[in-house]
Amino acid sequence: MKRKVLSTILAVSMVATMVVGCGGGGDTQADAPAADAGTEAPAEGGDAAQAEAPSGVAADKEGGKVGVAMPTQSSERWIKDGGNMKEKLEAMGYEVDLQYAEDDVQMQVSQIENMIAADADCLVIAAVDSGALTTVEAQAKEAGIPIIAYDRLLMDTDAVSYYASFDNEGVGTAIGEYIKTAKDLDAAQAAGESYTIEFFMGSPDDNNAVLLHKGVMDVLQPYLDDGTLVCKTGRTAFEDTCILRWSQETAQQWCENYLTGYYADEDLDIACTAFDGFAYGVKAALQGAGYTAENWPLVTGQDAELMACKNILDGTQTSSIFKDTGLLADKCVTMVEAVLKGAEPEINDTTTYNNNVVVVPSYLCTPVAVDKDNLQEVVVDSGYYTAADLGL
Ligand code: GAL
Repeated sequence: MKRKVLSTILAVSMVATMVVGCGGGGDTQADAPAADAGTEAPAEGGDAAQAEAPSGVAADKEGGKVGVAMPTQSSERWIKDGGNMKEKLEAMGYEVDLQYAEDDVQMQVSQIENMIAADADCLVIAAVDSGALTTVEAQAKEAGIPIIAYDRLLMDTDAVSYYASFDNEGVGTAIGEYIKTAKDLDAAQAAGESYTIEFFMGSPDDNNAVLLHKGVMDVLQPYLDDGTLVCKTGRTAFEDTCILRWSQETAQQWCENYLTGYYADEDLDIACTAFDGFAYGVKAALQGAGYTAENWPLVTGQDAELMACKNILDGTQTSSIFKDTGLLADKCVTMVEAVLKGAEPEINDTTTYNNNVVVVPSYLCTPVAVDKDNLQEVVVDSGYYTAADLGL
C-alpha cells in the first residue's frame, strides 16, 4: 500500500516536473480539452462472473465482453483505431464497449472503472497518460481482467499482459532519415552549408514520444553537433520540445513564437514534428507568418491522417509516417484471443518494452515514411484510403 502511494506520488511529481520542463522558454501549454465530451459507458450488468483460470487466462467461452478505452476523438487516427477494434472484435463474436476519454485522464479512469464494474472479460487500453492508470489497472487485475496495451505502453504496472504497437524508436529514425535524405545532409556537411530546424515532439506522458525523440536524434544529433543543422531556439532536448497531450494548438503557438522571435531575418528550413496534428499547427503558423511555396520548409508528421495526406499532395506538409491501424488492430485482436481463449498471440519483441515493472511481450508493426512520391503506392494501392478520399 505504502509502496503504491509512494510510486503514485513519484509518478505525479515526475510528470509535473516534465510538464514544467516542457513549458520552458516562457511558452504556455494549451489546456487539455474540457471533460464533458466523452462517450458514455453503458452500464448494463455483465454476464456471470468468469470462471477462474490460471495465469490471467479467462475460461474458454463463446465471445465475451471487451472494454476498449481510447484516448481521444480529436484526431482522426484514434477514431479509425477504435472503429477497427470494435468491428473486428464484434465480427469474432465479442461484445464491445468502446469509450473515448477526450484526453481527460480522470474521464478515462472512470470509463475503465465502469468497464470493470460491468464485468468486462478483457480491457484494451490506449492511455491518455500512460502512467496514470495504475490504480484502476490494479483493480482490473484483482478482478481477474487481463489488460492489453494498445499503441501506447502502460507504464508502472504488472497488470498488462501484452502490448500491440509500432516500432516507436523506428518511427523517430524514419523521420530523421527522411530529413537526412531529403535535404542531403551529408552533401551539405561536405559543402559547409547549413539548414535551420525546429523540433515539435510528443507528449511527456507517452512513452512513444520519448522513443520517437531518441530515434530522431540518433540520426540528426551529429548534424546538430557539427552545425549542418542549426536550431536557433536551442530547443533540441526532449524536455524542451515535448508537447503535453500532443496538442496541435500548442504546436501552432510554439511555431508562431519561434518564427517571430528567431526567424525574422532567416527562414525556417525544417520543422521536425512528431505528429500530423503538429504539422497542421505548424502549417497555420507558417501561413500566418507569410511563408509561401517559394520558402515553405520541410515539414514532417506522423500517422498519415487523411488531412495530412492531402497536405502532402498540396505541398503544405512534406512527409508523414504511415502506421497501418488495421494491421495494429489485427495484432491486438490476436492478443485478446490469447488472454481469453488461451490462444498463442503473435509476438515479435520480448525485450524492448520495459514499463518500469515488467517487460511486456509485444508485437511491433513497421512504420513507413510517406511523401508525395510514394503516397499513392503506400496509402491508396494498399486500400487504406481510396483515390477519391484523397481527391485523386
Ligand atoms: C502516439 C502515437 C502517434 C500519435 C500520437 C498522437 O502515442 O504513437 O502515432 O497518434 O500518439 O495521437
